Amino acid sequence: MKNNLKLKIAPSILSADFGKLNEEISQIAAVSDILHIDVMDGHFVPNISFGAPVMKCIKTFVPLDVHLMIDIPSKYVDDFVKAGADRIIFHAESKDKPSSVIDKIILLGAKPAIAIKPMTPVSAITEFLPMLDMVLVMTVEPGFGGQAFMPEMIEKIKKLRALGFDKDIGVDGGINAETAKICRDAGANLLVAGNYVFGAKDRVKAVESLR
Ligand code: DX5
Ligand code: ZN
Repeated sequence: MKNNLKLKIAPSILSADFGKLNEEISQIAAVSDILHIDVMDGHFVPNISFGAPVMKCIKTFVPLDVHLMIDIPSKYVDDFVKAGADRIIFHAESKDKPSSVIDKIILLGAKPAIAIKPMTPVSAITEFLPMLDMVLVMTVEPGFGGQAFMPEMIEKIKKLRALGFDKDIGVDGGINAETAKICRDAGANLLVAGNYVFGAKDRVKAVESLR
């Protein structure tokens, strides 16, 4: 499905070396549209990454999307906006009421987005679409980098566009040059890529191969 939205590449720092995060980010900043920051609490997903204090140390001119894979996003939205988040992506499957998280994000001056896990249908979020700046379709079970892309998720992208959703549709998990093309053809305009970028010998070339 064609759309006129700008294609955005969002490297996920989950696969970067956290010991030299700013150096790693500076390598790909010039070719990146957004940086994707994965926050995991060990409850919502079986893995722990980092919180707002670490995110605060990121120094870059690239806008920051924060993907909250946590049980109670409403509790931490404030911290992440203060730490520099431009957009907050929370999960439809979290314990919070989506409309109240959306209101909170907007009130704090950031942009709201919802992510859906592979088992969650688009119908679970249709009522919130008019309020959202982005939908993130998970193309793996959230929790870890480097997993295989789930092609069945493509239908969700098509469904969202068919419903008239004209903001960013992102895909997250198992994105490489090949799966990126499949997602773009289906109507996605934002590609999150972790392992494919940070695991590459030439990271700039890896980002550019997604365009
Ligand atoms: C997975 C995270 C992703 C992850 C993607 O739970 O939300 O953002 O970093 O990693 P790759 O691109 O390696 O699948
Ligand atoms: Zn993510």
